[in-house]
Amino acid sequence: MPAWETFGTVSLAESDALTALASITAGSVDAIIIDPPYCSGGFTEKDRVNASGHMSVRSLNWFRNDNMTTTGLVWLLRSVALEAHRTLKDGGSLCVFCDWRMTAALAPALESSGLRWRNMVVWDKCFMGMGSGPFRPRHEIILHFLKGKGMTGSSCVGNVIAEKRVSVKAKRHATEKPQALLETLIRATTPEGGTVVDVFAGSGSLAEAAISTGRRAIISEISASHIQTARERIKQKLTSSPP
Ligand SMILES: C[S@@+](CC[C@H](N)C(=O)[O-])C[C@H]1O[C@@H](n2cnc3c(N)ncnc32)[C@H](O)[C@@H]1O
Repeated sequence: MPAWETFGTVSLAESDALTALASITAGSVDAIIIDPPYCSGGFTEKDRVNASGHMSVRSLNWFRNDNMTTTGLVWLLRSVALEAHRTLKDGGSLCVFCDWRMTAALAPALESSGLRWRNMVVWDKCFMGMGSGPFRPRHEIILHFLKGKGMTGSSCVGNVIAEKRVSVKAKRHATEKPQALLETLIRATTPEGGTVVDVFAGSGSLAEAAISTGRRAIISEISASHIQTARERIKQKLTSSPP
């Protein structure tokens, strides 16, 4: 059982994702919005080109960081999706950030949890990333699943969301997601006063967005240093703009 701490409308714990989800009450959550490691072979295009495709899951510290194999990520996230199915309310959403390379393997594995695959949302970062050759990357994918036949959320948001990335100077985490993007995802999936969960919380960006939008948040993260960043960030946000 993780040691949950509460700060205003946010519960936070240092924990592995599956352990954290297992401690959440069944049918209690409006949306789960997660940004797991991408397993794309590294943070940069150079890392990806140099990554070996032949490393076994066992030889890697496969629950952490970007060097997980495709199989490792699929197994981990299918287990997460099963827990999502248990903890979500009927009509609740699971949103999963992923690299385009992973969608073909990941979406069917997540769907096999019993959740309904409903859409693929594109985060348009507005500017191209580094790289050579045609079609330099400027987007990431968010897979959207629903529990049951119902649907909670707003129909005012399209499936392409344009928001600039967090600047290098402002970043508290290597893969930090922008507040405006997270606020849009929360408003689209979670009613006011509802509860949103992120068990790969990194710097706690989703919790900050939940406070800004008047939602409750439950977040956890495996790294002690990242969860400390998240803790400080939430305390600061609650002090500067209490819910
Ligand atoms: C892509 S980052 C999330 C960044 C976050 N969205 C932000 O804006 O700061 C993924 C995070 O998942 C964490 N992580 C990796 N494996 C995990 C696991 N099994 N359980 C919980 N957290 C994990 C990593 O430490 C990393 O901080």
